[in-house]
Amino acid sequence: MNVSASGAGSAAARYFFMFLVGLVAGSVATVMLIRAWEARKDPFHEAVMHVQDWHFGQLKKNVEQNRCNATDTLPHLQALRAMADDIEPAFPDLRDDQRFAKAASDLRAALDAARANPPLSCAGVGNVVQRIGGACKACHQDFRG
Ligand code: HEC
Repeated sequence: MNVSASGAGSAAARYFFMFLVGLVAGSVATVMLIRAWEARKDPFHEAVMHVQDWHFGQLKKNVEQNRCNATDTLPHLQALRAMADDIEPAFPDLRDDQRFAKAASDLRAALDAARANPPLSCAGVGNVVQRIGGACKACHQDFRG
């Protein structure tokens, strides 16, 4: 009697222990899955930045290759300017930060100035590259982790 009762008790304890182990393992796995999923969740901000980076790189390359006609420069300035409007929506956590918003609008101002008065020589394109690069850097210094 006694033996079987304690046997049943220890079986129950064992099941309960297994249940706890399963619960803990399950929640650890869930947390890991959610973390992995979150890390991949929003590729948009990286996409915006990579496209900015590519066009910015093309401008630098144009200077190196001595391709500084307005037709070489303007398409990249247009693309940079169009994407610059997407910076705030791409960073929903940062868009309400005053300095972030100012950095984004400074970049747009630099691009607007360059488009209004397009550089016609490589020296001019070089200056524009410097100015845009400064605007990228101003934001990255504060906000790029
Ligand atoms: C108003 C803020 C702001 C401006 C302006 C800005 N960036 Fe960024 N950029 C960021 C932030 C924030 C990150 C970090 C994103 C992250 O890793 O989560 C970043 C990351 C990047 C990255 C790395 C992307 C990656 O793989 O994570 C590149 C490349 C980049 N920016 C290029 C540029 C270029 C080129 C310009 C200028 C034409 C520019 N950025 C202007 C805020 C800005």
